[in-house]
Amino acid sequence: MCGIVGYVGTQKAASILIEGLKRLEYRGYDSAGVAIQQEGRIDVAKKAGRVEVLAKEVARRHFSGTAGISHTRWATHGGVTDANAHPHLSSDGKIAIVHNGVIENYLSIKKFLLGKGYAFVSETDTEVLGNLIAYHYAKETDTKPGSRLLESVRKTLRHVEGTYGIAAICIDSPSEIVAARKGSPLLLGVGEGEHILASDAAALVSRTRNVVYLKDGELVQITPDSFSISTVDSLEVSPVIDQITWSIKDAELSGYAHFMEKEIFEQPAALENAMRGRFSEDGSTANFGGLNLSATDFRQIDRLVFASCGTGWHACLVAEHLIERFARVPVEVDYASEFRYRNAPLDRDALFFVISQSGETIDTLAALREAQRKGYKALAICNVVGSTIARESDGGIYQHAGPEIGVASTKAFTSQLLISAMLALYLARLRDMSYSDGVTYVQGLKAAPDLVRRVLDQAPRIKEIAQRYAQCSDFLFLGRLSLFPIALEGALKLKEISYIHAEGYPAAEMKHGPIALISERCPSVFFVPQGELFNKIVSSMQEIKARKGKIIAIVTEGSDLPAGLADETIWIPDCHEAVLPIVATVPVQLLSYYIAVARKCDVDKPRNLAKSVTVE
Ligand code: M6R
Repeated sequence: MCGIVGYVGTQKAASILIEGLKRLEYRGYDSAGVAIQQEGRIDVAKKAGRVEVLAKEVARRHFSGTAGISHTRWATHGGVTDANAHPHLSSDGKIAIVHNGVIENYLSIKKFLLGKGYAFVSETDTEVLGNLIAYHYAKETDTKPGSRLLESVRKTLRHVEGTYGIAAICIDSPSEIVAARKGSPLLLGVGEGEHILASDAAALVSRTRNVVYLKDGELVQITPDSFSISTVDSLEVSPVIDQITWSIKDAELSGYAHFMEKEIFEQPAALENAMRGRFSEDGSTANFGGLNLSATDFRQIDRLVFASCGTGWHACLVAEHLIERFARVPVEVDYASEFRYRNAPLDRDALFFVISQSGETIDTLAALREAQRKGYKALAICNVVGSTIARESDGGIYQHAGPEIGVASTKAFTSQLLISAMLALYLARLRDMSYSDGVTYVQGLKAAPDLVRRVLDQAPRIKEIAQRYAQCSDFLFLGRLSLFPIALEGALKLKEISYIHAEGYPAAEMKHGPIALISERCPSVFFVPQGELFNKIVSSMQEIKARKGKIIAIVTEGSDLPAGLADETIWIPDCHEAVLPIVATVPVQLLSYYIAVARKCDVDKPRNLAKSVTVE
């Protein structure tokens, strides 16, 4: 949610910043801007609209400076206008700032600054921050050379309530950036004679793989040849330099039309990565290195509580189903945004889990902290290495799905499903699951990548189906048991990228209200796996058919679905029960993707959305 890039070095900053912004555009795409230090000035270019619009303006102005900051915005305070785009200049023209987050007490600070003669040209909370830095900077005349901007930022942050990732430059200090974070991600890339700041590794991996993940409450001061980290309370911090393990190629389209398409097709590899090295030698259970709890600890647990947002929440629902079904441990699932406020009573021996692709979702992070505050161990299933949730959790499981750029989550979701299935296996084998059932389960999981490949092979057929239904106004997605969450996920995928109204329901629940929506323009996508509820689901389909509703059925290969009941059939291979949610997800991802493409929607940057939601 909003992307920041900063650069100091020997190269022209503008093109490096624009390249970085393009890679961060999925974080927000309302407006974008740069501020470049050159010839004793700070030159600002900013535009409402996509980074491409800014790139043209930057090219026209031939910026030559070698230090600067930049931003791509997802609007919170103030509409989408050139004036509200970042960077913001202080009214004395000395400080330029970019900001990700929300300053909650900005109105009282603004009142104070207006009284001191500072003027404002935007409606943003960020401009208040920039002017407060300028106010302190004007008073910091006795500070030792080289520390004046840093100390002004530090003083400012002591007065600020809310969340921020910021980067600031000062007209008097042409090769310096000061940045800080609290609640919004920020990384420092350590290069040769250059340093680069970014909200996400994707923006800096083309220049360096050596990174420092800043922590909440830390400030960093960078010049081309040096960096130093300290806290808002003026304590020095010894930096830990980590290595990014993926390369720039992983964050590029590589011939695909959209990142969403690429990431759907990367799922077999993502699933393989999630399993690698995580099965016991005897092939009967899963092993996780980073849980930081022993098998004995896990045996004490009498309940698991999962919290997440959006697609991750759907993964939690699948985890609930699989853990209760195979390990017979009760599981509760909560929206992270609700958990953090509703003061839920938890059992004494509960274990708390969050699921987050980005590891930066503020509601999920707050839920994790709330569970920890109550004294619970809180673990995370997370994709982004070094993210805040990964760092603050008491242990967890990395997904290793690679960077996910498309705003609509795809490969991260199926990888979360696979890890949930492995967790269910691990817990089940600690309790009542036999060795031979464990071996069968592991073999079932190992087959998942190939089974997903078989579903992907049907992409051309699913594309044809999508084109036939692309102009419908509503969709129902209907599934039962472990496929009810996949119905929810199918509905979310469709609505977020194609703007078609869609709802997910347990198939039998449909007759208690949603059936009223059925018409020729409201098809139903049914999940119809072969199994215990097959006949019940077929009855639900008959009820839709009797009302002239169109049916797209996702059906197990070889199924004895009555001929003519479904208008369209998509086949999924027979598989282990724990893998069923994974293989059933792929058709609805493809269906949503091709419908959105047919409707000419901007698949990777759907309106109003941002990939990583770092504000409440
Ligand atoms: O990064 P996270 O997994 O914490 O993100 C949670 C949701 O914001 C995310 O899943 C969102 O719902 C996606 N747009 C779904 O495709």
